[in-house]
Amino acid sequence: MKTPNISKQDILNAFQYRHATKEFDETRKLTEDDINFILKTANLSPSSFGFEPWHFVVVQDKELRELLKPVAWGASLKLDTASHFILGLSMKAPMTNWNSEYIMHMMKNVKQFPKDVIQMYSKFYREFQESDFNLDTDKKLFDWASKQTYIALANMMTSAALVGIDSCPIEGFHQEKTEALLKEKFGVDTDKYGLSYMVAFGYRKAEPPHVKTRRNLDDIVTWQ
Ligand SMILES: Cc1cc2nc3c(=O)[nH]c(=O)nc-3n(C[C@H](O)[C@H](O)[C@H](O)COP(=O)(O)O)c2cc1C
Repeated sequence: MKTPNISKQDILNAFQYRHATKEFDETRKLTEDDINFILKTANLSPSSFGFEPWHFVVVQDKELRELLKPVAWGASLKLDTASHFILGLSMKAPMTNWNSEYIMHMMKNVKQFPKDVIQMYSKFYREFQESDFNLDTDKKLFDWASKQTYIALANMMTSAALVGIDSCPIEGFHQEKTEALLKEKFGVDTDKYGLSYMVAFGYRKAEPPHVKTRRNLDDIVTWQ
């Protein structure tokens, strides 16, 4: 495996360049290679115990995008203009519980653990859920999965920025109404998945209206 050698300045430039793009240039589209690259960075993202508790729905159908508008106030201009529009779904309790079929599938078929490792891993995972992190409600389990799906979000947006692609993360939606819509019209099994966020990709229509502002590094870091 080749050791990465991107300069720190190039990476910081990409972080400065990325901004929450409110409106995209409709005439410019990502290539298939571009969107696959972005999705691969989600795929390669870290997750707790490596269980990848996420799923991504790429919504390219105009009619489906239209359906999202009434429930997603934070997405309106993006739904019309983004080249690619993704729903970030996170797994719910029936998928992520320590003794679920999905977790067994991950250990057995994806990670290809031998039987004794599966037993040991299951024990740790159960203890983690039941005592370390107290994931004792469906809501807690979903929020925990969501935290991980947000890591994939950050990675997708940063990778996009590194190759000059714009993005906008979106939480401006009514969760219950949107999930009802996803169940009815998008074929999402909402017993198994909930919606964590939406994210739009494309190319900016105009330069950002504001200079990027952030607190001083000293205000957010304590050295001890
Ligand atoms: C989790 C999350 C949810 C967000 N939701 C929305 C949204 O619904 N609509 C929107 O236009 N921007 C949304 N934003 C963008 C933020 O407003 C933006 O990232 C922030 O103001 C900082 O600006 P910058 O990203 O351009 O540096 C969201 C950002 C994050 C991280």
